[in-house]
Amino acid sequence: MLHETHHQESQSHWAGPQHQRPRTGAEILSNLTKWYGEGRPLLTKDALRNVQKQLRSPLQGVDKVWTIGFDGAKVEWEAWGKPYGVPEEEEAAYCSMTVSYLLGLKDMVTKVPVVYPSYTVDESRAVLQQSIRTWEESETWSHLKKTLIPILSRHHVNKIVGFSCFSLSWPQEESEDIRSGIQHALLLTVRSLLERTTAEHNVPCYVQDPAYNDVDKEVLQEQGMQFVNDPQGFLEVDESSVVFSCASNIAVKEIVTELARPAVIIWDKVEERKIETGDELGDDFYPSTDPATPRVFDMLSNSYDTYTFLPDTNFGNMAVYVRK
Ligand SMILES: C[S@@+](CC[C@H](N)C(=O)[O-])C[C@H]1O[C@@H](n2cnc3c(N)ncnc32)[C@H](O)[C@@H]1O
Repeated sequence: MLHETHHQESQSHWAGPQHQRPRTGAEILSNLTKWYGEGRPLLTKDALRNVQKQLRSPLQGVDKVWTIGFDGAKVEWEAWGKPYGVPEEEEAAYCSMTVSYLLGLKDMVTKVPVVYPSYTVDESRAVLQQSIRTWEESETWSHLKKTLIPILSRHHVNKIVGFSCFSLSWPQEESEDIRSGIQHALLLTVRSLLERTTAEHNVPCYVQDPAYNDVDKEVLQEQGMQFVNDPQGFLEVDESSVVFSCASNIAVKEIVTELARPAVIIWDKVEERKIETGDELGDDFYPSTDPATPRVFDMLSNSYDTYTFLPDTNFGNMAVYVRK
């Protein structure tokens, strides 16, 4: 059965002075390009904390959640928008974050809500244990370990943040069964390596993925991993972090680039020929959900050394980036 995710997405209302309201697509694109080129921040930790704080208070039907757009003007989001509501293009044109809430899954054909399929806690635990064994014996881990040992002795690292590793409890095709497990195993083995080779003990390991269910949370917690909701994972990322992300459905690379310069980053390899600027044309262009943007490319090429991550079917085409 094919499923689609079902979000509650708010309607947006641009709340700046009316005479400055964005009018046409061309004007919007030209402003966005100009401000991005000037280095104006798309996101800050304070902006994320502001929305997080508003969403933590009990919301009434009439409440609006506000953010500040790239143009500096306020945009208000209806707290309870229509399911699948699409933000008004011009209203939200300068917004670098939309406010949405994952309601669940629907059948793609019938649109009837479906219950998430899930392994039990025992089955998910077994997936993770099998994944850890497979990962620890792999060439990929052996190579990554050799890369990281000298780096961890020269960089202060005291935190691991993993994005988008997917659910351990989601029943998979046999060949895919341990892909999520292997990505979590990477986080756990990097943490053990850090604890063995440095003075750091009880290194926190945060994981952010809306796909986690209660079974995942229990199994991850047994391993001492801390599940966090978006945007807490991004707020955790700092100069002393190892960040991991593979094939994310959100713009992890751009968001991290906006917020911090982590000591070590392991994510999809960024290549100059694959930079996405947002104004690509052509029917054959397929935008990435986690694009290598000009800012991501600049950060990695100016401030990071690149190391090889061996090809491995449990990951995409990855690379290890270490701050210079
Ligand atoms: C294409 S899957 C990749 C999963 C896994 N990393 C892999 O390589 O198979 C994209 C992942 O991004 C996750 N994702 C979506 N929104 C996210 C968010 N706000 N924060 C973190 N992860 C998110 C999805 O739940 C999903 O697990």
